[in-house]
Amino acid sequence: MKKPLIVANWKCNPATLKEARRLFSAVKRTKAVVCPPFVYLSALKANGAQDVFWEKGGAYTGEISPLMLKDAGVKYVIVGHSERRKYQKETDEIISKKVKTALDAGLRVILCVDKISQIEKDLKLIKNWKLKTENLAIAYEPLFAIGTGKPCSIKKAKQMRKAIQKKIKKSVPVLYGGSVNSQNARGYIREAGFNGLLVGGASLKAKEFIDIIKAACYPK
Ligand code: PGA
Repeated sequence: MKKPLIVANWKCNPATLKEARRLFSAVKRTKAVVCPPFVYLSALKANGAQDVFWEKGGAYTGEISPLMLKDAGVKYVIVGHSERRKYQKETDEIISKKVKTALDAGLRVILCVDKISQIEKDLKLIKNWKLKTENLAIAYEPLFAIGTGKPCSIKKAKQMRKAIQKKIKKSVPVLYGGSVNSQNARGYIREAGFNGLLVGGASLKAKEFIDIIKAACYPK
């Protein structure tokens, strides 16, 4: 089995670079993908980002382009997270443009969905998306499970993983996200068959995050 892809989404945390450095140095040897806020990316030399703009550059105040992320050493980018769909009102139209520009720039895209129907809409600008596998991962993130401490049951998650895999090529990794912790991590990988995990809240605690990686990646 290929090593699961474990992704830390720090969201809008922590408040200072000092704290970010402390957390990052505790988890960096795990080789997980760590997605801190943009302002810490270069200082930490982190390999993941939480979002990206859909143009390569230009007059777009406040935006960060995929070329800038590449230049900062970023390899992975989360696109379409439900919090951005909700608070920044990102539509499938916007997300599809982000996916396209990020892939064109050579970034690996972790596309977050909570419904199967979003996959087609968010990949519509990718030619042959049903065949294309390179640099794309899908994260199944049920809304009810995000940041609530109420993870999706293994059974339901497994059904969704299978349904997603039917839509896309088998080699596209499918991740689970939503209230992952060190107790439930193993089940999503071993029982539900996911290829990785997207971890929010629990990724802000170094020990808990390392325990998640151990549970998910190493056989007991
Ligand atoms: P959570 O967040 O682990 O805090 O539920 C997951 C996510 O939003 O990706």
